[in-house]
Amino acid sequence: MKVGLLTSGGDCQALNAAMRGVVKALYENTKDVEIIGFEDGYKGLIYNNYHLVDLSEFSGILTQGGTILGTSRQPFKKMNTPDENGLDKVEAMKNTYRSLGLDCLVILGGNGTHKTANLLSNEGLNIVTLPKTIDNDIWGTDISFGFQSAVDIATGVIDCIHTTAASHGRVFIVEIMGHKVGHLALHAGIAGGADIILIPEIPYDLDKVIGAIEKRDKAGKRFTILAVAEGAISKEYAALPKKEYKQKTKTSKYPSVAYEIADKIEEKTGKEIRIAVPGHTQRGGAPCPYDRVISTRFGAAAAELIIKEKYGNMVALVNGEIKSVPLSEVAGKLKTVDAEASVIKEAKAIGISFGD
Ligand code: F6P
Repeated sequence: MKVGLLTSGGDCQALNAAMRGVVKALYENTKDVEIIGFEDGYKGLIYNNYHLVDLSEFSGILTQGGTILGTSRQPFKKMNTPDENGLDKVEAMKNTYRSLGLDCLVILGGNGTHKTANLLSNEGLNIVTLPKTIDNDIWGTDISFGFQSAVDIATGVIDCIHTTAASHGRVFIVEIMGHKVGHLALHAGIAGGADIILIPEIPYDLDKVIGAIEKRDKAGKRFTILAVAEGAISKEYAALPKKEYKQKTKTSKYPSVAYEIADKIEEKTGKEIRIAVPGHTQRGGAPCPYDRVISTRFGAAAAELIIKEKYGNMVALVNGEIKSVPLSEVAGKLKTVDAEASVIKEAKAIGISFGD
């Protein structure tokens, strides 16, 4: 059996652990497995950059962050556009797959990756995917590996900010990754004891945010911590047509939302705001134990799908059970935070403000 393997899109913790799971389970349960590792995601498949991966390469990588195969972002919307040399990328990927005589291609990726995976599946390639992303926004699975590790890191940052904010009696904004969804900011915000959490799914009113800070001041609290998702959006901006909003963010004088929010709070209250942006540290380092377990389980489940030739599926966790979900159902959808979810109500019940 000849299986191709690639990691695509932004990296995260437990990509190696997941690949190790797939490969170990294949070697344990089948004969004559050959693994072809494509370098830097779909780029390797398009441009024929691959190598035969020895089983030993998958040993000792359970705790190793990043991806031993490398990754890159290859936007789905550009997949049908020829490259600068006129190469048809989809045809090139099909040719690589066929010329290598692959039985299946295993793809580890997030939302964009799944759109291309579905495209390749529709083009007749045998595809099995695994959900990875710190954003936890892949439709069809309760959890993606990488998420819990990122929650740990972002929570650690808020914990550290807590002590310095308390010493100085300051207002701090911690900007947490997540341009489109706020799962990470929500979970790290609650875990880190943030006082205000701003996420894209719940547009905020700046006066309400300021009100929440002032409420803490009046209660004699010396500091306030805001956990703000990269994609946090004001009610005013959320009301704009998408194009106009995009233009506004493109031409914004601020490096990111945290700076804009800080500036506006400073302008209205005279308070000095400090900002902490952990950025890509949230995707780095060793996976947490939860991610090591879930990625290993996903890996073993993916190997089972391959052995049973159940192609065109993503492995998923649904209500605590490992399942498979058709790629056609996953592709093009986003799992956002439900503003009415009980976790939001519980957070509000203990006094966390969402600025709404
Ligand atoms: O999708 C994962 C993610 O880390 C997002 O949370 C973040 O907005 C984005 O990727 C950053 O992308 P890049 O690595 O391309 O800077």
